[in-house]
Amino acid sequence: MNRRLQKLSEWMKENEVHVSLLSSPENVFYLSGFNCEPHERVLALAVFRDEEPFLVCPAMEIEDAKRSGWSGEIIGYSDIDRPWEMIKNAIGARGLAVGKAAVEKEHMNVERFEILSQLFPEVNFISAEEKMRVLRMIKDEKELSKIRKACELADFAIETGVQEIKEGKTELEIVAAVEYALKIKGVTEMSFATTVLTGANAASPHGTPGMAKVQKGDFVLFDLGVVVDGYCSDITRTVAFGEISEKQREIYETVLRAQLAAVAASKPGATAAEIDLTARTIIAEAGYGQFFPHRLGHGLGISVHEYPSLTETNPLLLEQGMVFTIEPGIYVPGVAGVRIEDNLVITADGAEILTTFPKELQIVK
Ligand code: GLY
Ligand code: MN
Ligand code: MN
Repeated sequence: MNRRLQKLSEWMKENEVHVSLLSSPENVFYLSGFNCEPHERVLALAVFRDEEPFLVCPAMEIEDAKRSGWSGEIIGYSDIDRPWEMIKNAIGARGLAVGKAAVEKEHMNVERFEILSQLFPEVNFISAEEKMRVLRMIKDEKELSKIRKACELADFAIETGVQEIKEGKTELEIVAAVEYALKIKGVTEMSFATTVLTGANAASPHGTPGMAKVQKGDFVLFDLGVVVDGYCSDITRTVAFGEISEKQREIYETVLRAQLAAVAASKPGATAAEIDLTARTIIAEAGYGQFFPHRLGHGLGISVHEYPSLTETNPLLLEQGMVFTIEPGIYVPGVAGVRIEDNLVITADGAEILTTFPKELQIVK
C-alpha cells in the first residue's frame, strides 16, 4: 500500500469506515497512479483498512492500468457486465462486513447512488471528499516537479500568444497559434479551454473566445493552462495592444499592485482570508471593489480548481507544499477587463512563484 493509501486507511480507522469507494478519475489517479478518462463508464478504487485495495475499470483499460504502475488487483468489466455488483461480490469475497462506507458524494450521480444503496441496504454512506481534498492539498516533490514543468509551458504559451497579436487577428486565431506551438512541443492536454479575449470581451471573467478581432487601444487577456503528467498550470496575463487610455492604465496598475501585494503576503501561517483581503482591499480602495467579483485564487494540481480556496472568509492557515493561484481582476462591463494570475507554492519561509512571464504593463506595438 503506498503512502497516500495508508493515510486514507488511517482516516478510515479513526472514523470506523470499512470501505472507501473512490470514483472520480482525479482521486483514483491520486491514489493509484492510474490516470483514466472512463467517460460514462464506472472507474473505482476500493480501499480498506487492512486489506489490499482493488481497482475496477473497463476491461479495455486493464493494460493501461498495469502500465501506469498499479500493481494491485484489477477487476475489468465488459460493457454488458454490472460493475457495482462486481464490486459488491469482490468485497464479499474478502469476507468483510460493511457497516460504513465512504463515497464521493459530489462526484457520484443519483443513479449510481441508488444502485449502491440497493446493493448495500444496511450501509451508512459518508463523504470521502473532504479527506481527499485535504490529502491532495499538500504537494510532494514529484508533484511539484510536474507542476513546475506545466508552469514553464504556460509561460511559453503566453510568450507565443503575445507574439501572435497583430491588427485584425481574431481571438480564435491566436488560440489556435498558441495551442499549435504547444502541440509541437508535445503537450497533449490543456487544463481548460484556452482563453484569449480582447477589448470589452475581457470584461467577462470566464468569457469564450470567438471571432472578435484585436484592435489598437484594447487589452488582450490570455488565460490558459497546460497539463503535464496529469498536473495543471493556470496563468493569466493581460497586455495592451497599442496605446491605451489613462483609465485602462490605472485599472492595470491597480490589479498589478493587488497581485504583487498578495504574492508578497503568501507565507506559512498566513490565512487564505488574509491573502484574499490583501488584494481585495487595494482594489476596493482604488474604487474598483464592485468590479472584482471572484475569490482571489484556488489550489491547483490534478484538478485545475482544488483546495485551498482563497476567499475572504477562509480561515485556513497556509502551509508549506500548498500550490495555488493568485489572480485578482478588475472587469468593467462593456469597457475592459484585466486579470493577472500566477501559480505559487508555499515554501518553508515564503512562497515560490512558478509562473514567471513578466507582469509589468506590456504594450505590443
Ligand atoms: N481559468 C480559470 C481560472 O483562472 O480559475
Ligand atoms: Mn486562469
Ligand atoms: Mn485560476
